[in-house]
Amino acid sequence: MKRCTEAYSSTMAETSSPLSNKTRVSIVGSGLIGRSWAMLFASAGFEVCMFDVDKSQLEQAKTAVLGQLKDLESQGLLRGALSVQQQYDSIVTTSSLADCVKGAVHVQECVPETVDMKRKVFTQLDSLADDQVILCSSSSAIVPSKFTEHLKHRTKCLVAHPINPPFYCRLVELVPAPWTDLEAVQTTRDLMTSIGQAPITLKKEITGFIQPRIQHAILAECCRLVQDEVISVADVETAVIEGLAPRYAFMGPFETCHLNANGLKDYFDRFGQTIYDVQKSFNVPHPMQGAKAEEAEREVTQWVPLEALPQRRQWRDRRLAALAKLKNELDNSSK
Ligand SMILES: NC(=O)c1ccc[n+]([C@@H]2O[C@H](COP(=O)([O-])OP(=O)(O)OC[C@H]3O[C@@H](n4cnc5c(N)ncnc54)[C@H](O)[C@@H]3O)[C@@H](O)[C@H]2O)c1
Repeated sequence: MKRCTEAYSSTMAETSSPLSNKTRVSIVGSGLIGRSWAMLFASAGFEVCMFDVDKSQLEQAKTAVLGQLKDLESQGLLRGALSVQQQYDSIVTTSSLADCVKGAVHVQECVPETVDMKRKVFTQLDSLADDQVILCSSSSAIVPSKFTEHLKHRTKCLVAHPINPPFYCRLVELVPAPWTDLEAVQTTRDLMTSIGQAPITLKKEITGFIQPRIQHAILAECCRLVQDEVISVADVETAVIEGLAPRYAFMGPFETCHLNANGLKDYFDRFGQTIYDVQKSFNVPHPMQGAKAEEAEREVTQWVPLEALPQRRQWRDRRLAALAKLKNELDNSSK
């Protein structure tokens, strides 16, 4: 299996496809995530058609996309070989779901996160789909079996869960239902790689998918350490930023262990029992609520007051952009 850095390097050539022979992709729902998907597909030379039940959302989406494409260009992060204008022109909008889906090879649903909404939209898509098109949901947490079982085209349905913001966080989690055709999963995986994302494939459904489960496991331990008054909120932040994060920006936990000993097996032979003893001391997590949550917020607002959240989000996105740029440069220089 290719590591994601290799997949990305090969993608840079693939995204140079000319405007001719364009393949159509449909985006259903033009909110925060629908817009991001539209930009990702347009950057790789796809013809993108966006549908929304709310016309004003479509107009706002086009304006936002143009602004974001210009921002990416100014930061040297515009993907692919097409100009801002060419990418922007590749994205059209429609108020007809049938027109949106017609002739598409891939549909990416991006409507609000409720089972009822996903069921409703997938039922509509099922009635419009031909036998080839793959129907993906952007769902963050709802497994596909909850809304695709009754469909005629259910073998073509899966979840393709992006991480926000997808331009800087390239992971896409592919979650098949028990009845999803493996070829549909592989085709989606190849498609995601071809647009510069880093797909992973789940072998079966699991609550919370993968990245959120890992994130929640880290958060559970951080909350426990603060709840048990072992350490302050600010020092937990330092432990993660200065301890865990630097390596995790470019290698995962298994490779980290592999390099910290004479291979992964040696690592577990030498440190496995110690790690297991610590893991056994993890108590069952309890929700971070009430006085403890208020106390933690009082601490975090000392350096990020609530009224400063918008500026701090911009600060975060600038750093994410800088990190994405550095990783692109490193990936390309180590080809
Ligand atoms: N926001 C995130 O950080 C994030 C990250 C990963 C995945 N997701 C998932 O992506 C999906 C979309 O999230 P979002 O944040 O873009 O939501 P959003 O609220 O920003 O956008 C939803 C859009 O869907 C439109 N819509 C509502 N009903 C519709 C229908 N029947 N047909 C077509 N369009 C319809 C709305 O008008 C709106 O424009 C959700 O499943 C969410 O869990 C979100």
